[in-house]
Amino acid sequence: MLVERLVIEKFRNFSQLNLELAPRINMVCGANGSGKTSLLEAIYCLGFGRSFRTHQIKQVVQDNQDAFTLFAQLRESTGKLADDSDVGVTEAVHKIGYRRFRSGEAQIKVDGEVEKRFSALARLVPVQLMTPESVELITGGPKLRRQFMDWGLFHVEQSFYAGWSAYVRLLKQRNALLRQGQHHRQDGAYWDHQLAAAGEQVAAARVSYLDGLNALLNQYCQRFLPQYDFRFKLNHGWNKDEQALLESFQAKLDVDRKQGFTSSGPHKAEWQIKVDGIDARERLSRGQLKLLVSALRLVQAEDYKIRRGESCILLVDDLPAELDEQNQETLCNALKESGSQVFITTIDESKIKSHFSAAETQLFHVEHGTI
Ligand SMILES: Nc1ncnc2c1ncn2[C@@H]1O[C@H](COP(=O)(O)OP(=O)(O)OP(=O)(O)O)[C@@H](O)[C@H]1O
Ligand SMILES: [Mg+2]
Repeated sequence: MLVERLVIEKFRNFSQLNLELAPRINMVCGANGSGKTSLLEAIYCLGFGRSFRTHQIKQVVQDNQDAFTLFAQLRESTGKLADDSDVGVTEAVHKIGYRRFRSGEAQIKVDGEVEKRFSALARLVPVQLMTPESVELITGGPKLRRQFMDWGLFHVEQSFYAGWSAYVRLLKQRNALLRQGQHHRQDGAYWDHQLAAAGEQVAAARVSYLDGLNALLNQYCQRFLPQYDFRFKLNHGWNKDEQALLESFQAKLDVDRKQGFTSSGPHKAEWQIKVDGIDARERLSRGQLKLLVSALRLVQAEDYKIRRGESCILLVDDLPAELDEQNQETLCNALKESGSQVFITTIDESKIKSHFSAAETQLFHVEHGTI
Protein backbone atom coordinates (compact mmCIF):
# COMPACT_ATOMS: atom_id res chain seq x y z
CA MET A 1 0.00 0.00 0.00
CA LEU A 2 1.29 3.46 -0.67
CA VAL A 3 0.08 7.01 -0.24
CA GLU A 4 0.18 8.76 -3.61
CA ARG A 5 -1.39 12.01 -2.49
CA LEU A 6 -1.92 13.45 0.96
CA VAL A 7 -3.99 16.50 1.86
CA ILE A 8 -3.68 17.83 5.40
CA GLU A 9 -5.89 20.60 6.79
CA LYS A 10 -5.80 22.33 10.19
CA PHE A 11 -3.52 19.70 11.68
CA ARG A 12 -0.89 20.95 14.20
CA ASN A 13 1.04 23.75 12.45
CA PHE A 14 -0.22 22.78 8.96
CA SER A 15 -3.09 24.98 7.77
CA GLN A 16 -3.30 23.37 4.35
CA LEU A 17 -0.92 21.01 2.57
CA ASN A 18 -1.34 19.07 -0.64
CA LEU A 19 1.52 16.67 -1.28
CA GLU A 20 2.37 14.29 -4.06
CA LEU A 21 4.47 11.55 -2.51
CA ALA A 22 7.17 9.25 -3.86
CA PRO A 23 6.50 5.51 -3.97
CA ARG A 24 9.73 4.65 -2.18
CA ILE A 25 11.78 7.05 -0.02
CA ASN A 26 10.29 10.34 1.18
CA MET A 27 12.85 12.30 3.16
CA VAL A 28 11.45 15.14 5.27
CA CYS A 29 13.99 17.71 6.46
CA GLY A 30 13.67 20.87 8.49
CA ALA A 31 14.60 22.73 11.65
CA ASN A 32 13.24 22.00 15.13
CA GLY A 33 9.56 22.84 15.36
CA SER A 34 9.06 23.05 11.57
CA GLY A 35 6.49 20.21 11.35
CA LYS A 36 8.42 17.01 10.47
CA THR A 37 6.93 14.83 13.19
CA SER A 38 3.49 16.34 12.54
CA LEU A 39 3.62 15.07 8.96
CA LEU A 40 4.29 11.52 10.18
CA GLU A 41 1.60 11.98 12.81
CA ALA A 42 -0.94 12.78 10.08
CA ILE A 43 -0.13 9.58 8.17
CA TYR A 44 -0.19 7.61 11.44
CA CYS A 45 -3.66 9.02 12.20
CA LEU A 46 -4.94 7.48 8.97
CA GLY A 47 -3.76 4.05 10.13
CA PHE A 48 -4.72 4.26 13.79
CA GLY A 49 -7.35 6.98 14.11
CA ARG A 50 -5.29 8.67 16.81
CA SER A 51 -1.92 10.30 17.38
CA PHE A 52 1.18 8.58 18.75
CA ARG A 53 2.07 11.71 20.75
CA THR A 54 -1.11 12.43 22.67
CA HIS A 55 -4.43 10.90 23.63
CA GLN A 56 -6.06 14.33 23.46
CA ILE A 57 -7.31 14.91 19.96
CA LYS A 58 -7.75 18.63 20.71
CA GLN A 59 -3.95 18.96 20.88
CA VAL A 60 -3.67 17.78 17.29
CA VAL A 61 -6.36 20.08 15.85
CA GLN A 62 -4.78 23.39 14.86
CA ASP A 63 -5.16 26.19 17.40
CA ASN A 64 -8.42 28.14 16.94
CA GLN A 65 -9.90 25.51 14.59
CA ASP A 66 -12.73 23.03 15.16
CA ALA A 67 -11.43 19.97 13.33
CA PHE A 68 -8.59 18.59 11.28
CA THR A 69 -9.15 16.88 7.95
CA LEU A 70 -6.95 14.31 6.25
CA PHE A 71 -7.48 13.04 2.76
CA ALA A 72 -5.35 10.46 0.99
CA GLN A 73 -5.24 8.67 -2.29
CA LEU A 74 -3.83 5.19 -1.80
CA ARG A 75 -2.53 2.69 -4.31
CA GLU A 76 -2.93 -0.94 -3.42
CA SER A 77 -0.96 -3.59 -5.29
CA THR A 78 -1.76 -7.05 -3.99
CA GLY A 79 -0.28 -10.33 -5.15
CA LYS A 80 3.35 -9.22 -5.02
CA LEU A 81 5.58 -12.12 -4.04
CA ALA A 82 8.14 -11.88 -1.23
CA ASP A 83 10.99 -11.54 -3.73
CA ASP A 84 9.19 -8.56 -5.31
CA SER A 85 8.56 -10.32 -8.63
CA ASP A 86 5.25 -9.01 -9.90
CA VAL A 87 3.41 -12.11 -11.08
CA GLY A 88 -0.33 -11.54 -11.05
CA VAL A 89 -0.26 -8.18 -9.32
CA THR A 90 -3.60 -6.37 -9.19
CA GLU A 91 -3.75 -2.65 -8.56
CA ALA A 92 -6.53 -0.60 -6.99
CA VAL A 93 -6.87 3.03 -6.00
CA HIS A 94 -8.66 4.04 -2.78
CA LYS A 95 -9.68 7.49 -1.65
CA ILE A 96 -10.02 7.94 2.07
CA GLY A 97 -11.02 10.86 4.25
CA TYR A 98 -10.82 11.34 8.00
CA ARG A 99 -12.10 14.37 9.88
CA ARG A 100 -11.77 14.65 13.62
CA PHE A 101 -13.38 17.36 15.72
CA ARG A 102 -11.97 18.84 18.92
CA SER A 103 -14.93 17.23 20.71
CA GLY A 104 -13.71 13.81 19.59
CA GLU A 105 -16.41 13.22 16.98
CA ALA A 106 -15.10 11.58 13.81
CA GLN A 107 -16.19 11.44 10.17
CA ILE A 108 -14.79 8.63 8.03
CA LYS A 109 -15.10 8.11 4.30
CA VAL A 110 -13.74 5.26 2.21
CA ASP A 111 -14.14 5.43 -1.56
CA GLY A 112 -17.04 7.84 -1.30
CA GLU A 113 -18.95 5.80 1.30
CA VAL A 114 -19.49 7.05 4.85
CA GLU A 115 -18.15 4.49 7.35
CA LYS A 116 -19.16 4.30 10.99
CA ARG A 117 -16.23 2.21 12.14
CA PHE A 118 -12.63 3.33 11.92
CA SER A 119 -11.51 -0.25 11.25
CA ALA A 120 -12.75 0.06 7.63
CA LEU A 121 -10.13 2.76 7.11
CA ALA A 122 -7.43 1.15 9.26
CA ARG A 123 -7.46 -2.01 7.13
CA LEU A 124 -6.36 0.08 4.14
CA VAL A 125 -3.50 1.86 5.93
CA PRO A 126 -0.97 -0.56 7.42
CA VAL A 127 1.51 1.76 9.12
CA GLN A 128 4.67 0.95 11.08
CA LEU A 129 6.21 3.72 13.17
CA MET A 130 9.74 4.12 14.54
CA THR A 131 10.55 7.14 16.71
CA PRO A 132 13.15 7.86 19.40
CA GLU A 133 10.39 7.03 21.93
CA SER A 134 9.67 3.65 20.33
CA VAL A 135 11.97 1.85 22.78
CA GLU A 136 8.94 2.05 25.09
CA LEU A 137 7.67 -0.98 23.22
CA ILE A 138 10.27 -2.90 25.23
CA THR A 139 10.75 -0.69 28.30
CA GLY A 140 7.16 0.57 28.81
CA GLY A 141 3.95 -1.03 30.07
CA PRO A 142 2.35 -4.24 28.72
CA LYS A 143 -0.45 -2.45 26.85
CA LEU A 144 1.93 -1.41 24.06
CA ARG A 145 3.08 -4.99 23.64
CA ARG A 146 -0.49 -6.30 23.48
CA GLN A 147 -1.25 -3.66 20.86
CA PHE A 148 1.79 -4.82 18.86
CA MET A 149 0.43 -8.39 18.61
CA ASP A 150 -3.10 -7.28 17.97
CA TRP A 151 -2.10 -4.86 15.21
CA GLY A 152 -0.46 -7.78 13.40
CA LEU A 153 -3.39 -10.10 13.92
CA PHE A 154 -5.92 -7.44 12.89
CA HIS A 155 -4.10 -7.06 9.56
CA VAL A 156 -3.09 -10.63 8.73
CA GLU A 157 -5.77 -12.77 10.41
CA GLN A 158 -9.17 -11.71 9.14
CA SER A 159 -11.16 -13.55 11.83
CA PHE A 160 -9.15 -12.18 14.77
CA TYR A 161 -10.89 -8.83 15.08
CA ALA A 162 -14.34 -10.37 15.47
CA GLY A 163 -13.00 -12.89 18.01
CA TRP A 164 -11.22 -10.23 20.04
CA SER A 165 -14.26 -7.92 19.97
CA ALA A 166 -16.43 -10.80 21.22
CA TYR A 167 -13.98 -11.47 24.04
CA VAL A 168 -13.97 -7.80 25.10
CA ARG A 169 -17.79 -7.69 25.08
CA LEU A 170 -18.04 -10.81 27.25
CA LEU A 171 -15.32 -9.54 29.57
CA LYS A 172 -17.27 -6.32 30.19
CA GLN A 173 -20.34 -8.42 30.95
CA ARG A 174 -18.47 -10.61 33.46
CA ASN A 175 -16.79 -7.60 35.09
CA ALA A 176 -20.16 -5.89 35.51
CA LEU A 177 -21.53 -8.98 37.29
CA LEU A 178 -18.44 -9.15 39.53
CA ARG A 179 -18.66 -5.45 40.37
CA GLN A 180 -22.34 -5.65 41.26
CA GLY A 181 -21.79 -8.79 43.33
CA GLN A 182 -24.17 -10.66 41.00
CA HIS A 183 -21.77 -13.22 39.55
CA HIS A 184 -22.98 -16.11 41.70
CA ARG A 185 -26.65 -15.40 41.03
CA GLN A 186 -27.00 -14.35 37.42
CA ASP A 187 -25.58 -17.25 35.44
CA GLY A 188 -21.97 -16.45 36.33
CA ALA A 189 -20.85 -19.92 35.24
CA TYR A 190 -22.50 -19.45 31.84
CA TRP A 191 -20.59 -16.22 31.20
CA ASP A 192 -17.35 -17.83 32.39
CA HIS A 193 -17.75 -20.60 29.81
CA GLN A 194 -18.49 -18.12 27.02
CA LEU A 195 -15.61 -15.86 27.97
CA ALA A 196 -13.17 -18.76 28.32
CA ALA A 197 -14.08 -20.13 24.89
CA ALA A 198 -13.55 -16.72 23.24
CA GLY A 199 -10.34 -16.16 25.23
CA GLU A 200 -8.80 -19.50 24.25
CA GLN A 201 -9.27 -18.55 20.60
CA VAL A 202 -7.60 -15.17 21.08
CA ALA A 203 -4.67 -16.83 22.87
CA ALA A 204 -4.24 -19.49 20.18
CA ALA A 205 -4.12 -16.81 17.46
CA ARG A 206 -1.44 -14.90 19.37
CA VAL A 207 0.69 -18.03 19.88
CA SER A 208 0.73 -18.80 16.19
CA TYR A 209 1.38 -15.14 15.27
CA LEU A 210 4.42 -14.76 17.54
CA ASP A 211 5.75 -18.18 16.50
CA GLY A 212 5.69 -16.94 12.92
CA LEU A 213 7.55 -13.74 13.87
CA ASN A 214 10.28 -15.57 15.82
CA ALA A 215 12.10 -16.88 12.77
CA LEU A 216 11.94 -13.50 11.01
CA LEU A 217 13.14 -11.72 14.16
CA ASN A 218 16.46 -13.54 14.22
CA GLN A 219 16.88 -13.00 10.50
CA TYR A 220 16.55 -9.21 10.98
CA CYS A 221 18.54 -9.07 14.18
CA GLN A 222 21.36 -10.88 12.39
CA ARG A 223 22.00 -7.64 10.55
CA PHE A 224 21.31 -5.22 13.41
CA LEU A 225 22.70 -7.06 16.44
CA PRO A 226 24.46 -10.16 15.11
CA GLN A 227 26.13 -11.09 18.39
CA TYR A 228 22.88 -12.14 20.13
CA ASP A 229 20.11 -14.69 19.88
CA PHE A 230 16.58 -13.18 20.17
CA ARG A 231 13.33 -14.86 21.08
CA PHE A 232 9.77 -13.80 21.89
CA LYS A 233 8.41 -15.14 25.14
CA LEU A 234 4.64 -14.91 25.31
CA ASN A 235 2.82 -14.49 28.60
CA HIS A 236 -0.78 -15.48 27.88
CA GLY A 237 -2.34 -13.64 30.82
CA TRP A 238 -2.83 -16.86 32.73
CA ASN A 239 -0.82 -20.03 33.29
CA LYS A 240 -1.82 -21.57 29.96
CA ASP A 241 0.63 -24.45 30.09
CA GLU A 242 -0.99 -25.84 33.22
CA GLN A 243 -4.58 -24.63 33.17
CA ALA A 244 -7.42 -24.11 30.75
CA LEU A 245 -8.68 -20.51 30.86
CA LEU A 246 -11.96 -21.64 32.42
CA GLU A 247 -10.02 -23.30 35.25
CA SER A 248 -8.12 -20.08 35.81
CA PHE A 249 -11.39 -18.10 36.03
CA GLN A 250 -12.70 -20.60 38.57
CA ALA A 251 -9.49 -20.67 40.61
CA LYS A 252 -9.41 -16.86 40.82
CA LEU A 253 -13.12 -16.35 41.32
CA ASP A 254 -12.85 -15.28 44.97
CA VAL A 255 -10.16 -12.70 44.17
CA ASP A 256 -12.11 -11.47 41.14
CA ARG A 257 -15.25 -11.06 43.23
CA LYS A 258 -13.34 -9.07 45.81
CA GLN A 259 -11.65 -6.84 43.21
CA GLY A 260 -14.70 -6.51 40.98
CA PHE A 261 -12.90 -7.44 37.76
CA THR A 262 -11.39 -10.41 35.95
CA SER A 263 -7.76 -10.70 36.94
CA SER A 264 -6.58 -13.31 34.43
CA GLY A 265 -7.05 -13.91 30.71
CA PRO A 266 -5.85 -12.68 27.31
CA HIS A 267 -6.59 -9.05 28.25
CA LYS A 268 -3.58 -9.37 30.60
CA ALA A 269 -1.32 -10.98 27.98
CA GLU A 270 2.03 -9.60 26.97
CA TRP A 271 5.44 -10.67 25.68
CA GLN A 272 9.10 -10.21 26.40
CA ILE A 273 12.14 -10.42 24.22
CA LYS A 274 14.81 -12.72 25.56
CA VAL A 275 18.36 -11.91 24.48
CA ASP A 276 20.52 -14.99 24.95
CA GLY A 277 17.92 -16.02 27.52
CA ILE A 278 17.95 -12.68 29.42
CA ASP A 279 15.21 -10.02 29.38
CA ALA A 280 16.17 -7.45 26.70
CA ARG A 281 15.47 -4.60 29.17
CA GLU A 282 18.24 -5.87 31.42
CA ARG A 283 20.74 -6.50 28.65
CA LEU A 284 20.68 -3.96 25.81
CA SER A 285 21.95 -0.38 25.59
CA ARG A 286 19.63 2.44 24.53
CA GLY A 287 20.91 2.40 20.92
CA GLN A 288 20.66 -1.39 20.82
CA LEU A 289 17.08 -1.17 22.07
CA LYS A 290 16.30 1.25 19.25
CA LEU A 291 17.76 -1.25 16.77
CA LEU A 292 15.73 -4.07 18.34
CA VAL A 293 12.49 -2.10 18.11
CA SER A 294 13.27 -1.13 14.51
CA ALA A 295 13.85 -4.83 13.78
CA LEU A 296 10.50 -5.69 15.42
CA ARG A 297 8.67 -3.16 13.24
CA LEU A 298 10.41 -4.38 10.10
CA VAL A 299 9.65 -7.98 11.05
CA GLN A 300 5.95 -7.16 11.38
CA ALA A 301 6.04 -5.37 8.04
CA GLU A 302 7.80 -8.35 6.43
CA ASP A 303 5.28 -10.80 7.88
CA TYR A 304 2.47 -8.56 6.55
CA LYS A 305 4.09 -8.57 3.13
CA ILE A 306 4.49 -12.36 3.07
CA ARG A 307 0.90 -12.95 4.14
CA ARG A 308 -0.91 -10.13 2.40
CA GLY A 309 1.23 -9.81 -0.72
CA GLU A 310 1.82 -6.08 -0.28
CA SER A 311 3.93 -3.66 1.72
CA CYS A 312 3.31 -1.57 4.83
CA ILE A 313 4.00 2.16 5.02
CA LEU A 314 7.04 2.82 7.22
CA LEU A 315 7.39 6.04 9.24
CA VAL A 316 10.78 6.81 10.80
CA ASP A 317 11.04 9.95 12.94
CA ASP A 318 14.52 11.39 13.50
CA LEU A 319 16.29 8.40 12.00
CA PRO A 320 19.87 9.32 13.00
CA ALA A 321 19.03 9.92 16.69
CA GLU A 322 20.96 7.64 19.05
CA LEU A 323 22.50 5.57 16.24
CA ASP A 324 26.16 5.57 15.20
CA GLU A 325 27.01 5.94 11.51
CA GLN A 326 27.33 2.22 10.90
CA ASN A 327 23.90 1.51 12.38
CA GLN A 328 22.31 4.43 10.53
CA GLU A 329 23.51 2.82 7.32
CA THR A 330 22.28 -0.64 8.38
CA LEU A 331 18.81 0.76 9.16
CA CYS A 332 18.67 2.77 5.92
CA ASN A 333 19.58 -0.36 3.93
CA ALA A 334 16.92 -2.41 5.69
CA LEU A 335 14.31 0.29 4.95
CA LYS A 336 15.37 0.37 1.31
CA GLU A 337 15.26 -3.41 0.96
CA SER A 338 11.81 -3.64 2.57
CA GLY A 339 10.38 -2.42 -0.74
CA SER A 340 7.97 -0.26 1.28
CA GLN A 341 7.04 3.35 0.93
CA VAL A 342 9.14 5.03 3.61
CA PHE A 343 8.90 8.44 5.31
CA ILE A 344 12.06 9.52 7.11
CA THR A 345 12.48 12.76 9.04
CA THR A 346 15.77 14.34 9.97
CA ILE A 347 17.11 17.73 10.96
CA ASP A 348 20.25 17.25 8.89
CA GLU A 349 19.72 15.43 5.60
CA SER A 350 23.44 15.29 4.78
CA LYS A 351 23.84 12.49 7.33
CA ILE A 352 21.59 9.98 5.64
CA LYS A 353 21.00 11.20 2.08
CA SER A 354 24.01 9.30 0.80
CA HIS A 355 22.41 5.97 1.79
CA PHE A 356 19.66 6.37 -0.80
CA SER A 357 19.83 6.84 -4.56
CA ALA A 358 18.51 10.13 -5.92
CA ALA A 359 16.18 8.26 -8.30
CA GLU A 360 14.20 6.60 -5.51
CA THR A 361 14.26 9.55 -3.10
CA GLN A 362 12.04 12.59 -2.86
CA LEU A 363 13.24 15.35 -0.59
CA PHE A 364 10.78 17.61 1.26
CA HIS A 365 11.88 20.73 3.13
CA VAL A 366 9.55 21.79 5.92
CA GLU A 367 9.49 25.36 7.19
CA HIS A 368 6.94 26.72 9.67
CA GLY A 369 4.15 24.44 8.51
CA THR A 370 4.79 24.76 4.79
CA ILE A 371 6.59 22.30 2.51
N1 LIG B 1 -2.43 22.33 17.86
C1 LIG B 1 -1.44 23.05 17.30
N2 LIG B 1 -1.71 24.13 16.56
C2 LIG B 1 -0.74 24.84 15.97
N3 LIG B 1 0.57 24.54 16.08
C3 LIG B 1 0.91 23.47 16.81
C4 LIG B 1 -0.07 22.66 17.45
N4 LIG B 1 0.55 21.65 18.10
C5 LIG B 1 1.86 21.84 17.88
N5 LIG B 1 2.10 22.91 17.11
C6 LIG B 1 3.39 23.41 16.62
O1 LIG B 1 3.75 22.65 15.48
C7 LIG B 1 5.15 22.77 15.26
C8 LIG B 1 5.67 21.53 14.66
O2 LIG B 1 5.95 20.53 15.61
P1 LIG B 1 6.70 19.18 15.22
O3 LIG B 1 6.78 18.39 16.45
O4 LIG B 1 6.05 18.56 14.05
O5 LIG B 1 8.15 19.71 14.80
P2 LIG B 1 9.42 18.92 14.29
O6 LIG B 1 9.78 19.45 12.96
O7 LIG B 1 9.20 17.47 14.39
O8 LIG B 1 10.53 19.39 15.34
P3 LIG B 1 11.75 18.60 16.04
O9 LIG B 1 12.88 18.61 15.07
O10 LIG B 1 12.07 19.44 17.22
O11 LIG B 1 11.30 17.25 16.41
C9 LIG B 1 5.75 23.20 16.59
O12 LIG B 1 6.28 24.48 16.45
C10 LIG B 1 4.58 23.19 17.54
O13 LIG B 1 4.65 24.21 18.49
MG1 LIG C 1 10.02 16.03 15.62
